Amino acid sequence: MSKIFITRVIPEFGLNLVREHFPDCDIWADELPPSRAQLLERARGADGLLCLLTDKIDGEVMDAIGKQLKVVSSMSVGVDHIDVAAATERGIPVGNTPGVLTDATADQAFALMLSAARRVVEGERFLKAGKWVTWSPSMLLGADVAGSTLGIVGFGRIGQAIAKRAQGFDMRVIYHSPNSKPAYNAQPVDLDTLLRESDFVSINVPLTSQTKLMVNAEFLSKMKPNAVLVNTARGGVLDQSALYAALKSNQIFAAALDVADPEPLPLDCPLLRLENCIIVPHLGSASKKTRDMMALLAAQNLIAGLKGERLPNCVNPEVYK
Ligand code: DGY
Repeated sequence: MSKIFITRVIPEFGLNLVREHFPDCDIWADELPPSRAQLLERARGADGLLCLLTDKIDGEVMDAIGKQLKVVSSMSVGVDHIDVAAATERGIPVGNTPGVLTDATADQAFALMLSAARRVVEGERFLKAGKWVTWSPSMLLGADVAGSTLGIVGFGRIGQAIAKRAQGFDMRVIYHSPNSKPAYNAQPVDLDTLLRESDFVSINVPLTSQTKLMVNAEFLSKMKPNAVLVNTARGGVLDQSALYAALKSNQIFAAALDVADPEPLPLDCPLLRLENCIIVPHLGSASKKTRDMMALLAAQNLIAGLKGERLPNCVNPEVYK
């Protein structure tokens, strides 16, 4: 009988499917993820692991689980929390959940872009602080979205879904993404051109050794003073100290972040004190339907791996060669 460890309670949409096949699967029932020690202990001997982006799964964890481990399935599209190379070396397929969170994440990028441009969060704080004394011609003026230029860094599924939405706002869309083909009237440009011409810069690259801290002081210094930075990718792509300096000195207009590094972001992070910075707690895929579908895809990957079948969504298909 296969032993399965699931590192958190996931939506029933996926959980029920796992239970149909493996009624005895072991689920970490806490609201918080297992610590590394708890993970090493509880997952030992598992044939299948279903994890979340809050679990760091490296070679040490895989070895502690044991040689019988047949599959690591993550309920996420991003797999930067998993040492995929280490899994490949050990012949373990790694599954993820692409596609089903594209629209939700693109919606979130747009929500953040509009909120930062039109100072929605700041406006609400202003009102609740009792500062709204009259309508005024110059109160909380923001940036125009319609007719502006949107630069998308990383033109994969989510980047393209953002470009699709931008068409409805009459935006000019440019992108930088060496291996992506044009779509939705977006024009490919080099990164310097993108930063020089964009009123909104949306970050949509996965976190890898090449993209880590890619949005640094130099990157920010090339943006327009009226520009808004939106990050719905991973916190590790951004140098938060450099962003703080750029926002504090009004080198750029605003930033809106769905992700941070670390997560959760400590409450003493200086970015939280800035009026021109919106930060929400990694909610890009946080819609009921999206999370149901992510759980379902994660369950399907897990079950396929345990049956020795090819994972429907595998990030290291080289294991099958
Ligand atoms: C993912 O799946 O990688 C997303 O970041 C979750 O919102």
